[in-house]
Amino acid sequence: MKFFIDTADIDEIRELAVTGLLDGVTTNPSLIAKSGRPLFDVLGEICEAVEGPVSAEVTATNVESMIAEGHKLAQIAKNITVKVPLTWDGLRACRALRAESIQVNITLCFTSAQAILAAKAGASFVSPFIGRLDDISQNGMQLIQDIVQIYRQYPDSIQTEVLVASVRHPLHAVEAAKLGANVITLPPKVLRQMINHPFTDIGLKAFLEDWDKTGQKIIK
Ligand code: E4P
Repeated sequence: MKFFIDTADIDEIRELAVTGLLDGVTTNPSLIAKSGRPLFDVLGEICEAVEGPVSAEVTATNVESMIAEGHKLAQIAKNITVKVPLTWDGLRACRALRAESIQVNITLCFTSAQAILAAKAGASFVSPFIGRLDDISQNGMQLIQDIVQIYRQYPDSIQTEVLVASVRHPLHAVEAAKLGANVITLPPKVLRQMINHPFTDIGLKAFLEDWDKTGQKIIK
């Protein structure tokens, strides 16, 4: 499963990119607004910091303007993936941009029916928002299971990758991996939480204390 990071905070991205664990970045208009910085500056810096796909979302709502914005965003760098919402205009914009070999992430997916349309439109990625479903007592992870199962029925015709979005905690990553999702986009906090276990810290402390008692060094 590929790891994307879900933020427009360039400092966080640079800090986590050095781990070598990042395969890409997702942003959205809310995350850009939260960064407090101009869109093109932020996206340019992110595309330099990370080699993999960087999702940049259009803000137009009609197909022609979505395509025009998609072209402008795609000019920022070759690793830009244009993000469009799961609307009829978004699906049409997706088809048009994909015909020009521009990568497209269809976002705001909340049902399997929508995910089928995203695949039919030739999306590179579809982003089901699991946390927002969990928030209203619907099972976000069940949606991932359903979409993965549906897409697997058509290995020759569906290339769309399932990008698990709106992630709230490390167990979302574990469950998504068990289901065979292609990608998960993690808020920086959740990525950091994934490594935590008190026995790791306690175990390491004990090993180092015992080692110190030997007076030895691996490199003198
Ligand atoms: C995905 O691309 C979105 O940016 C994101 O995962 C939305 O998550 P939220 O529900 O925490 O806002």
